[in-house]
Amino acid sequence: MNRLIIVSNRTPGRDPAAGGLAVALRKTLAEREGFWFGWSGKLTEKPSVDAVFEDIDGLSVGKIDLTREDHHAYYAGFSNSILWPSFHLRLDLATIEAPWYEAYRRVNTQFAKALLPHLQPDDVIWVHDYHLIPLATELRHLGARNRIGFYLHIPFPTTDALYAIPHHNELMRDLSRYNLVGLQAQRDVAAFNDFADHQSPSSLADGPLEAVDFSQTEIAVFPIGSDPDAFAKLSTSPAANKMVKRMQRAMDDQRLILGVDRLDYSKGLPQRVEAYEKLLANNPQFRRLVHLLQVAPPSRDSIKEYQETSDTLDAMCGHVMGRFAEPDWAPLTYVKRAYGQPSLAGLYRLARVGLVTPLRDGMNLVAHEYVASQNPVDPGVLVLSRFAGAAEIFPEALLVNPFDTDETAEALRLALEMGLDERQERWHALMDAARLYSVDNWASSYLARLSPDAQQGSGPLRDVLYLASVA
Ligand code: F6P
Repeated sequence: MNRLIIVSNRTPGRDPAAGGLAVALRKTLAEREGFWFGWSGKLTEKPSVDAVFEDIDGLSVGKIDLTREDHHAYYAGFSNSILWPSFHLRLDLATIEAPWYEAYRRVNTQFAKALLPHLQPDDVIWVHDYHLIPLATELRHLGARNRIGFYLHIPFPTTDALYAIPHHNELMRDLSRYNLVGLQAQRDVAAFNDFADHQSPSSLADGPLEAVDFSQTEIAVFPIGSDPDAFAKLSTSPAANKMVKRMQRAMDDQRLILGVDRLDYSKGLPQRVEAYEKLLANNPQFRRLVHLLQVAPPSRDSIKEYQETSDTLDAMCGHVMGRFAEPDWAPLTYVKRAYGQPSLAGLYRLARVGLVTPLRDGMNLVAHEYVASQNPVDPGVLVLSRFAGAAEIFPEALLVNPFDTDETAEALRLALEMGLDERQERWHALMDAARLYSVDNWASSYLARLSPDAQQGSGPLRDVLYLASVA
C-alpha cells in the first residue's frame, strides 16, 4: 500500500478535545504508513524552511512554523475573512484586503517547499481544506508527480459568491491541479459544476482569461461522518455518566434541548436563541419544563465578525433570561468553553432534542454525534438545518429553515411532544445512515478513488459519487 501523506493547516495534538478532522484522520493514518504535515501552531520571527517531525501517540507529524504576519494574512485574513464568509454565502461579512492573497500563496509555497524533501514518488497526498487550495500547484511547480487529492470541509460556494472572491479563477485553476476534489454534499458538486460549465470573466487583476480545464480532475461527493459505534459506547462511559449525573442534579425533570457549536456566525446561534424564545412565548406549558443548553467555545476571536457574533449572542441570551427566568428557574445556560468528547457524548444522550441549525455548513458532525449517542430505548429528536450537508443523509431528522425562527420553534414543539414510537423509528433510520456514512467509509472510499490503482477513465470525470451507491 502506498504511503499516505495528510496535509492540513492544523496538525493533531495531544489535546483530547481535538477537532473532528483530527479525530477522523488520526485513525486512518494509524492504519497505514505515512505522516501528517502542517503548521506547528508556533509563530516565529522567521518562517521555517525545514519541517520538524515529532511522534504524537504513535503518529508521525511534520510541522513548520509561520511568521506572525504571514499567519495573520493567510489564516485570519484570506482564509477566514474572505474564503470562509464567501463559501458560507456571507459576502456581507467578508473583508477584502489585497495583500492577504500574496501571503496566502506564500504560505502555501512554504508548505510545498518544506514537504517536498520528505515525499517519495509513490506517496499519495491528501490535502485538507480551504487554507491549502494552491498546494497542488506549488508542489507540481517543484516537480511532484504524485497523486494529490483535495477535500473541502466547508460548503462550496454558488458561482456568484465565488466570483466575489479575489483571484477566484486562479483558485479554481489550483483545484484543477488535483487528481481528485472531494466535496461534502451533492449541492456542492452541483455548485462546482455550475462554475466549471459556465465560466465567465473574472477581474482585471487576473489578466487575460482562459477557461480552467478540469478534464484531469475528478470532482465527487464524499460525505464525512463520525465513528457512530465508538460514540455510542462513549455515551455510556464513566466520564459521560459523570456529566449526565451533574446535569441531572441541576435539571431535575426538565427536558434538555442541546446545541454544541464553535462560536461562528455560520452556526446560526442568534437565530437559534430567537427560536427558543418563540417556543417559550407561544407555548407557556413548556416554561419550567424545558432547558436550553448551548455550548459554544470561542473561535477565531481575533476577527471582528466573530467578536460581534459573540456579543450578539451574549445580548440575546441575556434578553431571554430577562424575559422568562424566575428566581428558581433559568430557561437557558450558555457555556463558552470546549468540552472533551466523553462529556459531550453524555450531554447528547441526555438531551431530548439535538438542535443543529447552522445557516450553512459543510457536513456538521455534531448531528452525527448526537444521533450516535442516543439511547435506543428512549432516543431524542434531531432538529436539523436543511442547509447543513448532513440534511442530505438525514432526511428523517426534523428539517428546518434556520432563518425562519417560527418554523424552528414549531419543530422544537414537535420534537418535545413526539411519541416514543416515532422517535424510535426516526432514530433507527438516522443511526443506519450514520453507520453507512461513517468516517471509516468516508476515508476508505476517498482513498480508494485517489489511489493510483483506481480505475481511470471508467466514467465521466465530473461524477457524483455518492457513497451509498458504492458501499
Ligand atoms: O469546518 C472547517 C474547519 O476548518 C474544521 O476542519 C475545523 O475543525 C474548524 O473549521 C475549526 O477551524 P480553525 O482551525 O479555524 O479553528
